[in-house]
Amino acid sequence: MKILILNGSPKRDASDTMHLTRAFTDGMNEVQKNEIHTVHVIDRHIEYCTGCFSCMRNGGECIHQDDMRELLEEILRSDLLIFSFPLYCYGMPAPLKVLIDRTLPLSSMSMKKVGDHYEHIGQTDFSHLKYLMICGCGFPNSKQNFEPAVAQFKLMFRDNHTVITVPESPMFNAPEAVEVTVPRLSLVKEAGRQYAKYGMIEAALMEQITSPMIPEEIYAQIVNGGQSAL
Ligand SMILES: Cc1cc2nc3c(=O)[nH]c(=O)nc-3n(C[C@H](O)[C@H](O)[C@H](O)COP(=O)(O)O)c2cc1C
Repeated sequence: MKILILNGSPKRDASDTMHLTRAFTDGMNEVQKNEIHTVHVIDRHIEYCTGCFSCMRNGGECIHQDDMRELLEEILRSDLLIFSFPLYCYGMPAPLKVLIDRTLPLSSMSMKKVGDHYEHIGQTDFSHLKYLMICGCGFPNSKQNFEPAVAQFKLMFRDNHTVITVPESPMFNAPEAVEVTVPRLSLVKEAGRQYAKYGMIEAALMEQITSPMIPEEIYAQIVNGGQSAL
């Protein structure tokens, strides 16, 4: 399987969230070797969408000549897109959102009704793509935190999507937290194995993965007390 990791963290490989993403793909690779390419979105030249819609008309092209041309080709050559990003202001970091805006050339202006909503009709066939969101965040609470980003992801990628959210994720870069982060990464690796085998992750495993690693209050105390680099 061709996997494209779109890393939305400006911290590149040092990203807290990328610990989760690497554990997941390690699990997938145990089932079957995959071809994996990671793009640090922050390093790519991607202009803002100007909203001119010329790309969506008559098989048109984007007015910008930047890295997005190559990235769109790579996206279409992939089987699985992994959007790995930290939660920023309840959403995704801006560079990743800019990249997603710029996938507009894949769609046409025409729209069709699908169930209870409308969707643009594609100019290109990308129905083979699967989408995975892996998102870390700095607060210990999952509720009242991840919902807007998850809702946006599910609306954008209605078919074949899977979502993994993990709170307290700065702990993945804190050596003093290995007692809890190593077992969590093992669970995420198991999720990768399940996904590779069955295309889905058991609900019970998902619940374990998305829960805080240490009690919320203790995490907040550590952060507030300045006892660690969290
Ligand atoms: C601009 C900015 C906005 C943030 N917004 C949130 C937020 O809404 N909720 C949250 O729990 N953490 C928030 N955080 C914390 C990050 O999600 C957290 O530090 C995360 O572990 C960083 O992951 P990374 O190392 O993969 O980039 C924010 C951090 C920054 C820099």
